[in-house]
Amino acid sequence: EKGGYDYFMLKEIAEQPKAVADTLLGRIDGAGNLTLDEVRISASELREMDKVVIVACGTAFHAGLIAKYAIEHWTRIPCEVELASEFRYRDPILDAQTLVIAISQSGETMDTLMALRHAREQGSKVLAICNTNGSTIPRESDAVLYTHAGPEVAVASTKAFLTQLVACYLVALYLGQVRGTKWGDEIRAVIRDLSQIGGAVERVLETMEPVRELARSLADKNTVLFLGRHVGYPVALEGALKLKELAYMHAEGFAAGELKHGPIALIDQDLPVVVVVPSPRGRSVLHDKIVSNIQEIRARGARTIVIAEEGDEAVVPYADHLIRIPVTPTLLQPLVATVPLQVFACELATARGNEVDQPRNLAKSVTVE
Ligand code: F6R
Repeated sequence: EKGGYDYFMLKEIAEQPKAVADTLLGRIDGAGNLTLDEVRISASELREMDKVVIVACGTAFHAGLIAKYAIEHWTRIPCEVELASEFRYRDPILDAQTLVIAISQSGETMDTLMALRHAREQGSKVLAICNTNGSTIPRESDAVLYTHAGPEVAVASTKAFLTQLVACYLVALYLGQVRGTKWGDEIRAVIRDLSQIGGAVERVLETMEPVRELARSLADKNTVLFLGRHVGYPVALEGALKLKELAYMHAEGFAAGELKHGPIALIDQDLPVVVVVPSPRGRSVLHDKIVSNIQEIRARGARTIVIAEEGDEAVVPYADHLIRIPVTPTLLQPLVATVPLQVFACELATARGNEVDQPRNLAKSVTVE
């Protein structure tokens, strides 16, 4: 069943190139245009929406945080992302002009279900992004976009996350398409980029041995910090979550710009700090800022583990460990940058003798609030 892998998690990490391709399957026509027939919310209703609210938990919440960048950038609709468990308790402002997107691998997460029920009671339309056919969340939503990652057995979410991202990008493009903020050529260009991601993930997976070695060398550490900016910030949060749940280590993700507002006090000798570096192209201001963050961290004696695009030479002098990822458009970088962090957490868990597929105290679907 594990297809020759020691753990389901390893199998599911390896399945990611195919999973992301499957999420795109049947959603692009021969001319390279987007056809999201499943989104049974009419184009005229979608044009009326003045706000998008994403609700989700854990890893799915991190996918939502990344989706916000794409939705706002491509559609100019304001987008909020909220932990489903907090959502209904603060009396959120919802109406028929609010599009609520509920993201869930299992489709059974009670916090997310209660959040979407609340949204529908207030008259909002709910679009589910889900991996499990016929589960409760899609059944109770107005529409569903299935991620088609295939069954995810390991408790720690990996391939579901990548496919949630792909589905979110598709929804963002679709909103842009129906609202006229994104035109055919631009949409086709992004879809072309998305259809190359599977190959890029494949290349990342082929170069993971040094990451596994590094993980084993850190098995006796107590803390690992993760930093990122822009879409790399939720990637940092996801890297930290994976490490907590699998390695039972203290791990925290920060927005790199926040470092100077407090977290830098945590930096000391030998502390491993993982930094997700934005592309030097495009938003190069952010790139330069994060490079100076890495310098600051290193100046305090910490061990820098840098995830950077191929060809980014500026980081080389400050990286104790350099993990290369393929060049992608800025918004799509999480699809490749997350993969080494999954491998890192899985290997650390193994090195610490933990149960990889069944971490202590956790369940695959959390059906209580
Ligand atoms: C992390 C993880 C959890 C889930 C969360 C939501 O690896 O698996 O954080 O992401 O419990 O679950 P779903 O997506 O099933 O709603």
